[in-house]
Amino acid sequence: MVDQDEQVLGWAAAITDETQWEIHPIAVSPKHQRQGLGRILVEDLEYLAREAGAVSVWVGTSDETYSTSFSRIDLYQDAGSSLTHWEAPTDHPLRFYLGVGYSLVGVLPDEEGLGKPGIHFAKRIVED
Ligand SMILES: CC(C)(COP(=O)(O)OP(=O)(O)OC[C@H]1O[C@@H](n2cnc3c(N)ncnc32)[C@H](O)[C@@H]1OP(=O)(O)O)[C@@H](O)C(=O)NCCC(=O)NCCS
Repeated sequence: MVDQDEQVLGWAAAITDETQWEIHPIAVSPKHQRQGLGRILVEDLEYLAREAGAVSVWVGTSDETYSTSFSRIDLYQDAGSSLTHWEAPTDHPLRFYLGVGYSLVGVLPDEEGLGKPGIHFAKRIVED
């Protein structure tokens, strides 16, 4: 995404598959965050995924700084309950994914390194 002067405002890519696309990565320039540009990038990727025949989009974020509840418990023992009662800093990207309509659907222990879980979100992009 660029402005009228071709300055980059944001960037998003997807790992594509037949039925499901993964948003990876997505970023908005720091001085342009919280102005709705991330939402536009996500909606654009969802449009492209739908046009290509995919039925859902997923995205993962992580906790590499031990700042969320997902890194405070043993997910190998209790992954299920980590999804119902969680805590995260107010600026953690997981709040963006919830804000643009994605559901928290899973956690993957050690995805980003020892004790650093992946936190997964997904959204169905077609009618039931
Ligand atoms: C995450 C990121 C892409 C979001 O882009 P953005 O342009 O700031 O997000 P938007 O302004 O489009 O926000 C869309 C919705 O999410 C909500 N949201 C975004 N960040 C939020 C936060 N930290 N807390 C709560 N809600 C948040 C917004 O309130 C908005 O909802 P609303 O329209 O109902 O108000 C951007 O902050 C970023 O580039 N961060 C650094 C890179 C990064 O973390 N990428 C993701 C790695 S997993």
